[in-house]
Amino acid sequence: MDDFWSGVGVDLHLEPDAADGRRAGLERALRDAVRDGRLAPGTRLPATRRLAAELGISRGTVKAAYDQLVAEGYLTARQGSGTRVASLPSVGSEEPQERVRARAPRFDLRPGSPDVGAFPAAAWLRALRRAIATAPSLAYDYGDPRGRIELRTALSGYLGRARGVLAPPDRIVVISGYVQGLALLTRVLDGAAVAMEDPGLPFHREVVRRNGGTVRPVAVDAQGVRPVELGDAAAVVVTPAHQYPTGVTLHPERRRALTDWARARDGLIVEDDYDGEFRYDRQPVGALQGMAPGQVVYLGTASKTLGPALRLGWMVLPPHLVDAVADAKLHSDHHTETIGQLALADLIDSHAYDRHVRACRLRYRRRRDQLLDRLGPHRSVRGIAAGLHALIEVPEEAEALARAEAEGLALGALGDHWHTPGPGRPQGLVVGYGTPRERAYPEALEVLAKVLDAPS
Ligand SMILES: Cc1ncc(COP(=O)(O)O)c(C=O)c1O
Repeated sequence: MDDFWSGVGVDLHLEPDAADGRRAGLERALRDAVRDGRLAPGTRLPATRRLAAELGISRGTVKAAYDQLVAEGYLTARQGSGTRVASLPSVGSEEPQERVRARAPRFDLRPGSPDVGAFPAAAWLRALRRAIATAPSLAYDYGDPRGRIELRTALSGYLGRARGVLAPPDRIVVISGYVQGLALLTRVLDGAAVAMEDPGLPFHREVVRRNGGTVRPVAVDAQGVRPVELGDAAAVVVTPAHQYPTGVTLHPERRRALTDWARARDGLIVEDDYDGEFRYDRQPVGALQGMAPGQVVYLGTASKTLGPALRLGWMVLPPHLVDAVADAKLHSDHHTETIGQLALADLIDSHAYDRHVRACRLRYRRRRDQLLDRLGPHRSVRGIAAGLHALIEVPEEAEALARAEAEGLALGALGDHWHTPGPGRPQGLVVGYGTPRERAYPEALEVLAKVLDAPS
């Protein structure tokens, strides 16, 4: 079968039903494959001789089946280009269900994504090449659920120098992005009450719930999360470097109060350091983990620095949680994909990662400055010292969003982030400036300014 399907370039299981007779069975199997989309339009079928040999039937039977399906319109046969699957729109009744895709907005300033046009493709390709050239064959086998030692060692050095994290390699677990780390940890905490910032990302609350955790809101004010409200929660998930979505940096006194809470209650702080590398007014604020490595689970991700598509992230765990989280990872997906891990290790070791992060910091700072320039000094914009998003205060969020939508501009809404939405909450627009691509960004800002300046 391998040989047969290597000829058509696709891997498809085809089992003619012997009860139908050879020719009719083959016809039915091919017809079904075309109808249900396993054989896509344009796919070239194997030569009759080869298919006959594969299936152990005569060449004449295969030819007769092909001819029949050509006559029915399922296949086309042309001299020189062989027999191919036809591209008739109305073949069969079970067309593959296309997902109804929401129309992409003309201008996208929603938060969440970096400028993926800045992905360092050439450096990543070099790192991948080196990783593949030097990886031992065992790298292609199942590996340590904590991840490759090469990457854990590289991260240990990087996180120590760039983020102030105390991260011995044996306390790191490589994960497929922050969201997986949050899910694994929630499972390990086994139904415990997890306090989460209010406002915060609803998707992450849902991840905690779906993994058996009980979500409790904890308020955020101008100094960040309020530890006095933590009560008897077992853990609290925080975004200290740049609170999502308000953009507040956790005040030094709050950092102390939070670690005091954790020590006094044996509570766990889950530090989501999703955009900690991007600080514009001074050196990046060091991670909270450095103040209390025994109480903090540090989570980092390549989603903002490189791209969400890589699905690469890392956890630095207090010693008592390493085995349990590694075990949860093992039972989730064995471990994160290995070659990407080796490439990231190479990128970090060669310092190409640092160079890329520095270049991105400049690029995002420029974008942030363009945003502020365009909006002017009278507009209240918060959370601008870091990250890839800012919060613009507006009196009527819904009206501004409706005006934006009419202009083809997509924005985030503060209202979507409260644990319990309701009247009387502060109103705001969450604007991501990682997107759109460089060329479209100035025009997107023009539209944003127009939307904000319009009389309500
Ligand atoms: C608050 C916050 N945390 C973490 C992440 C990163 O998630 P992941 O690593 O799963 O892509 C994001 C991405 O948008 C985010 O907004």
